Amino acid sequence: MAWRRPQPFPRHLELDPHHVELVEFDLARTSDEPFDVLSAAERARADRFGRDVHRERFIAGRCMLRVLLGGLLRLAPRDVVIRAGRNGKPELAREHASPLRFNLSHSEDRAIVALALGREVGVDVERVRRTVDAGDIALRFFAPGESTALLGLPEPRRHEAFFRCWTCKESYLKARGDGLLVRLDAFEVEPAEHPTRLRWSSLDAADVARWRMNPLDLDAGYVAALTIEGASHIRRWSAPARREQLASGTESRHDIASAREGGVAQLSLEPATVRRGIITRW
Ligand SMILES: CC(C)(COP(=O)(O)OP(=O)(O)OC[C@H]1O[C@@H](n2cnc3c(N)ncnc32)[C@H](O)[C@@H]1OP(=O)(O)O)[C@@H](O)C(=O)NCCC(=O)NCCS
Repeated sequence: MAWRRPQPFPRHLELDPHHVELVEFDLARTSDEPFDVLSAAERARADRFGRDVHRERFIAGRCMLRVLLGGLLRLAPRDVVIRAGRNGKPELAREHASPLRFNLSHSEDRAIVALALGREVGVDVERVRRTVDAGDIALRFFAPGESTALLGLPEPRRHEAFFRCWTCKESYLKARGDGLLVRLDAFEVEPAEHPTRLRWSSLDAADVARWRMNPLDLDAGYVAALTIEGASHIRRWSAPARREQLASGTESRHDIASAREGGVAQLSLEPATVRRGIITRW
């Protein structure tokens, strides 16, 4: 499933413990007026971005994240309480008492949100930048087995393989919640060109059995990876590109089941949410 192209976002999406949902979207197409959806802390952070483009991407990403989480929790996006966990991994505040887990990644205008019930997830997307010296970085920062494998590849295969390896490694660290505070040679993924698993990890030996890695094919020029706790299927969705795709019907639909341990949750991007002006344009 991980290699299938994303499907158009459904009217209702059922979340269940056996699937991880990946919602892919374009940060440039989301609203430019969602500021009131954000928490005070998010607004303050948005204000600290030096460049408008970075500020707008952050706002667009958090806005979409809040719409998705709000749909699952039956809350308005602004009422979703997101807190920073260990090392800053965003997670739902305890008051939601929900098994819903999520992770977000963006690179330039490409963004992905991973959603799961009762299992941790980490996602990373990167643009394949040709200016990066892949061999040198692999040699200096990756585990020896990874750098040896990557350096044995001819260009341009090595370059793309480096970014695939990078996204898998980062998605693992994001799933754990460590982020890049951890050394990249503290664990090894395999096979280095298209990693699907951990070979070893000095962070926690049990991680080898705990996490599964899934390289994702995106449009040319981007690579991504998803690390999931345990075995799970993946469903890929492209978020609606325009507001009209969400805004059919006039009544709010409150048929979204809450996310419960082991249960099923329905995700709905509610017309009412859109009409409240929270999302004004996609
Ligand atoms: C988290 C980190 C790996 C992101 O790397 P990146 O490639 O630049 O960015 P990505 O787009 O893939 O991911 C960014 C998103 O990951 C999420 N994130 C932030 N910290 C995270 C963590 N520790 N673990 C998992 N996910 C995290 C956020 O949603 C963030 O996006 P947002 O702030 O716009 O909502 C990197 O910033 C990092 O390692 N930071 C170190 C941790 C840190 O500084 N913590 C602060 C002190 S507590």
